[in-house]
Amino acid sequence: MIYKTQRIAKEYFAAALVLLGFQVLFGIVLGAKYVWDYDPLLGQLPFNVVRAIHLNLLVVWILLGFMGGTYYLVPEEAKTEIWSAKLARFQLVLFLAIAVAAVAGYILRWSWGMPFLEQPEVLKLAIVVVALIFFLNVLMTIMKTKNWTTTQGVLLGGIVLIAVLFLFGIPFMRNLSTQYFWWWWVIHLWVEGAWELVAASIMAFLLMRLTGVDRKVIEKWLYVEVGLVLLSGIAGTGHHYYWIGTPKYWLLVGGVFSALEPVPILFMVIDTLRDVRERKQEITNRTTLVWAVGCAVMHFIGAGVWGFAHTLPAINKWTHGTQITASHGHFAFFGAYVMLNLTMISFVLPNLSKPDSSKRQMKQTPFVLMVSFMTLMALAFAIAGIVQTYMQRVLGMDYLVTQGYMKLWYAVLWVSSWGFAIGVAAYIVDYFSFGRRRLPEAGA
Ligand code: HEM
Ligand code: HEM
Ligand SMILES: [Fe+2]
Repeated sequence: MIYKTQRIAKEYFAAALVLLGFQVLFGIVLGAKYVWDYDPLLGQLPFNVVRAIHLNLLVVWILLGFMGGTYYLVPEEAKTEIWSAKLARFQLVLFLAIAVAAVAGYILRWSWGMPFLEQPEVLKLAIVVVALIFFLNVLMTIMKTKNWTTTQGVLLGGIVLIAVLFLFGIPFMRNLSTQYFWWWWVIHLWVEGAWELVAASIMAFLLMRLTGVDRKVIEKWLYVEVGLVLLSGIAGTGHHYYWIGTPKYWLLVGGVFSALEPVPILFMVIDTLRDVRERKQEITNRTTLVWAVGCAVMHFIGAGVWGFAHTLPAINKWTHGTQITASHGHFAFFGAYVMLNLTMISFVLPNLSKPDSSKRQMKQTPFVLMVSFMTLMALAFAIAGIVQTYMQRVLGMDYLVTQGYMKLWYAVLWVSSWGFAIGVAAYIVDYFSFGRRRLPEAGA
């Protein structure tokens, strides 16, 4: 750690990890509802409410992770303290208050309805305030020294894009097709556009610090990747416009451009591996190295391969909205963003802990557990989805009859999710006990 205010990152990460714990807990409840017909929580916590909580906690903790990562990164890049540490703390408290209000609201059936964007208008406006505070604080920090770097520029661009795109999810529309058209500007353009920019810049920063590879080399590729992500990602929105009442040309636009989306993600894997191979310094924090390489690979598989598998219109007309989508949703979110945050946390934590903990590292067992059990979960979802696509869509069997045939795979999903949860719990325990007990020396 070089700057005192970087310490704020630790508070953001702590909050993020607590919410991750709850997100997974609610995920397990959702899985149980798939497996058993009898549902003791049906009255208080029906499937749709638990799903909304699962998804909102996911989005909030990932964003908290990005924010924590940003507050660690920007001081080092701009070479100055954060403009206002007080504002950063206020932003954290406000965001958490909104998350608690949203979850309590869903339990009391106070909801806007659209998946991921269930927050009622007043909470959405409060989220806009959080975004503005965040943007202001980051911008003012950079402006203190005007030490613009590509990494910071891309990061700031991503932050602005996240905030601006969110605005498209606020107006209420009477026509469901129109509503969904703009809804995808938030959902798709977030995860396949704006968030990719944030993730790419955080990863670039991390690789520079971890490997000591030249800034010029790493940032040159950042430009290329960002260009390609935007090119394929923006027009790629079309893969959600196939069947919702939009004009036919979206079949072509969506098919062609979204099929290109895996290309920049593959570049990121190659790039990460090259940086690691050409490292200029010894990598003491092996745990972060494992997470970083794992993240690049899982990002490619979950988003690139699993996304490509159902993105062409001729395939998507059969698989649309089945458990194949859920399989990809889990795999991609996990590989791209969950793992990115856990990578960054494993890098930042030793640097912010006392005493002498820059020579220590987090454990690697949670990585092994999370990656293997999430892979099993994604496979279970996928097989359930294949059964569903074939029976329900191809053979035209009844929805509920098909669900009966999928139960075995729901059971596999549920059992795997416990393994995943143990990995998450181990990571959280490691985080909160780090520095308080003896840990193996880095490199051991
Ligand atoms: C990190 C990046 C990504 C994340 C986090 C992600 C996540 C998701 C999620 C959560 C959904 C479900 C949305 C819903 O219907 O509620 C979805 C749908 C979809 N994704 Fe991705 N995705 C990513 C990248 C990609 C890429 C690169 C492709 C294509 C190559 C792709 C192709 C698709 C398609 C075609 C659907 C629609 C499935 C359907 O018709 O039901 N995704 N994605
Ligand atoms: C950090 C880990 C996790 C992430 C990133 C995650 C992400 C997601 C996403 C993006 C969706 C929406 C999918 C879609 O719209 O197609 C979802 C729904 C769901 N998740 Fe998770 N989840 C995680 C952990 C879990 C766990 C441990 C379980 C336990 C089985 C679980 C069970 C479910 C279920 C059953 C749904 C509802 C799918 C439906 O609508 O039928 N998730 N999750
Ligand atoms: Fe998409």
